[in-house]
Amino acid sequence: MRAVQATAFGDPGVLVVVDLPDPTPGPGQIAIDVTHAAVGLIDLFFRQGVYRDRPGMPQPPFVPGLEVAGTVRALGPDVTEFAVGEPVVSMSAAGTGGYASVYIADAARVAPTGGLDPAVAVAVVPNAAMAHVALTRIAHLEAGESVLVQGALGGFSAAFPGIARQLGASRVVGTVRAGKLAAAATTKLPYDRIVDSAELPDVLADERFDVVIDPVGGAVRTHGLALLRPGGRMIVAGNASEDWGHQVDTNQLWLGNVTVAGFNAGAYLPAHPQYMRPALEAALQAVAAGHGEIEIDVLSFDEAVTAHERMERRDVAGRIVLRP
Ligand SMILES: NC(=O)c1ccc[n+]([C@@H]2O[C@H](COP(=O)([O-])OP(=O)(O)OC[C@H]3O[C@@H](n4cnc5c(N)ncnc54)[C@H](OP(=O)(O)O)[C@@H]3O)[C@@H](O)[C@H]2O)c1
Repeated sequence: MRAVQATAFGDPGVLVVVDLPDPTPGPGQIAIDVTHAAVGLIDLFFRQGVYRDRPGMPQPPFVPGLEVAGTVRALGPDVTEFAVGEPVVSMSAAGTGGYASVYIADAARVAPTGGLDPAVAVAVVPNAAMAHVALTRIAHLEAGESVLVQGALGGFSAAFPGIARQLGASRVVGTVRAGKLAAAATTKLPYDRIVDSAELPDVLADERFDVVIDPVGGAVRTHGLALLRPGGRMIVAGNASEDWGHQVDTNQLWLGNVTVAGFNAGAYLPAHPQYMRPALEAALQAVAAGHGEIEIDVLSFDEAVTAHERMERRDVAGRIVLRP
């Protein structure tokens, strides 16, 4: 198979297109002929060596990529629910293997996509499924509650407004940095309002939220905590700001009567696999309802270096997906 391999930790230039043996599916797995593989910020963290020598994290050489769309190539011995040739998307798994023309997925993580554009399927459905799990299982979002989404147009964040709407949220507000305000003005994502994160908290005056989604960290995390209503829940879901030393004042949790909960799909879903299929179904419904309209740039495996360079420059308004 054709794959993009991170040959070492380092800058995007360590990504090289290579030929590797075709993998075959074992019990409970399917092989997918990949047509589109999503690029996520976590792929950059892995490539840069943020998790160097960390047990369980990918070490070079490895093939980055957590999410793929394509068609079923072959079924593991006991898998009966898919047909060869069927279009599918695979929800995020443990961090590697996606930038390849053949991908092995646990069948439980895979959903049929029918006529859905595979670029949209891979760019939106896995993140929307994770947003569903985070909002239902961790934030316990109830109909009528309000949600604030930090980094509103980022790949993962963009999945939250649609799922929040689907779950009955009464109001969904986003934050972006100044460079994304123009894109925020024209986004089709179902936000009520998008504000400049540099102007937090004043820009929101007295508005407070039941749930804050924060894959960004750093200063916006500090502001987000102060924007929760009593009984509010913050989901810490990433660290795009790369502020690895950020701290939370636990006395602020007590006095504000708020909850801070982590969500990491890579850890949560293997422990709670029963939530994957309902989440994927909810994600596909949200996309069908038009809640996942983001900008998608399609590049080839040969342009993987460019894809990572653009992500590092923050020159992406939605998501980049790669084609073999
Ligand atoms: N918990 C999970 O299961 C899960 C799943 C997927 C992703 N993640 C995590 O979520 C994070 C985002 O991943 P992604 O793939 O969505 O990345 P992405 O597409 O690059 O989005 C990152 C977002 O964060 C914003 N941002 C970055 N630095 C910022 C700062 N200092 N202040 C304010 N905003 C800032 C970016 O704004 P600009 O556009 O202005 O740069 C962008 O909107 C990563 O840490 C990733 O590991 C977690």
